[in-house]
Amino acid sequence: MNKLRKVFLWGGAVAANQVEGAWNEGNKGPSIADVVTEGAADRPRKITRGVQKNKYYPMHQASDFYHHYKEDIRLLAEMHFKCFRLSIAWTRIFPNGDDKEPNEDGLKFYENVFKECQKYNIEPVVTFSHFEMPYNLVEKYGGWTNRQVIKFYLKFVEVCFSRYENQVHYWMTFNEINNQTDYNSDLSMLADSGILINDLSDKEREEEMYQASHYELVASAKAVQIGHAINPDNQIGCMINMTPQYPYSCKPEDIFQAQKAMQRRYWFADVQTLGKYPRNMEAYFEENRLRQDITDRDRKDLLNGTVDFVGLSYYNSNTIEFREDNPDFKFVGTELNVKNPYLKQTQWGWPVDPLGFRYSLNWLTDHYHKPLFIVENGIGAKDKVESNNSIHDDYRINYLREHIKSMIEAIEQDGVDIIGYTPWGCIDLVSMGTGQMSKRYGFIYVDSDDKGVGSFKRLKKDSFYWYKKVIDSNGKDLF
Ligand code: BG6
Repeated sequence: MNKLRKVFLWGGAVAANQVEGAWNEGNKGPSIADVVTEGAADRPRKITRGVQKNKYYPMHQASDFYHHYKEDIRLLAEMHFKCFRLSIAWTRIFPNGDDKEPNEDGLKFYENVFKECQKYNIEPVVTFSHFEMPYNLVEKYGGWTNRQVIKFYLKFVEVCFSRYENQVHYWMTFNEINNQTDYNSDLSMLADSGILINDLSDKEREEEMYQASHYELVASAKAVQIGHAINPDNQIGCMINMTPQYPYSCKPEDIFQAQKAMQRRYWFADVQTLGKYPRNMEAYFEENRLRQDITDRDRKDLLNGTVDFVGLSYYNSNTIEFREDNPDFKFVGTELNVKNPYLKQTQWGWPVDPLGFRYSLNWLTDHYHKPLFIVENGIGAKDKVESNNSIHDDYRINYLREHIKSMIEAIEQDGVDIIGYTPWGCIDLVSMGTGQMSKRYGFIYVDSDDKGVGSFKRLKKDSFYWYKKVIDSNGKDLF
């Protein structure tokens, strides 16, 4: 029977824009996350042109990790974290993206954060671009639709690889790079591709998305090459959102539609692990006459910059059906979704499917033959603080328990190789999708509401003590 790695990296994950706050301190520039307002499950967040007065932008304060990082990392150490996944805000290092010199205040901030991790033997796991790029690059260059942005990104990553050479060994180039396939969502287009939607037709949106994706993939491959040249011990991964697309029924049309959806969502990982576009994507570009700037040089770079591991997030599965008005089996984001009658849902309507997690880990291993790193998993839920400051989040413990069980079965019974597991939002943070603080994921409660009102005091939830036991027993004690 296979076993968990001896040094299995148990930990937790956050992202700069969702946790740090201090959006304009330390000479930080405005990022795309800073121009998105709050929303709710039934009220989409709004994107504004620049930061406007009288609008509430929840990422401006977030959980105020910027001023609480010492306390926060001490709490993670108390749970015996082996690793901590976070991202570096590009705008702290290059406030406008095209600056000549990096910003020393920003570099120093992360150096201090990593020092704090080292103090407790916590391995940092760093994402370069987690739904965050300098807003200036969006307005001035059109975000990732512009090839020039590759060179700005590479300058950013090179500065970080060099500065943190002795502090960080695990890196990821782009968070959930494949989420931009949801190009019918304005938020997704901005967060992943740095594109502000104006009056684009559907076809133009799709074209822009694929072009932006290509430049990101080239940037990612070159970043891998730079990172390995600076320190051959660097482990550099891609990061994809893994949401398996189930067919609604055994009707061949449903099955084929689900296969097409999988191809459209996961070709990114093909490029990042195998170094080339899958045949189905090449055919899709040609068949749909999608104009693409892909050079021979790019293709060489993709081949020379394959990743060391596949980082992934898993929250839920998705079920889709074939529709008569879509006879070409096009994958049009979430429009083909149907409710899976076998699964319960979270308060935010996300299906809960622990077996889908094991299915996903198998699927990724069968396709990419690389070690996996589970860098996000978890349940967003409302928490209630009792009068004695305790928080009984058994729903969170139940969700995580079932998913960890599935992960261990995938390792022991299916031979999947996993580097570590970092549940999402280990410290409460602002939800990316809805901009709400009340959609909480953490083991550590942060006292702030959806309008950023609160003491920002940290409290330990029941899951805090439970997860410590899980780590101490290397996943054996799940109760
Ligand atoms: C992932 C992202 O998509 O899901 C995170 O990498 C995000 O940034 C997480 O927060 C959960 O989604 P949400 O919308 O509940 O914040």
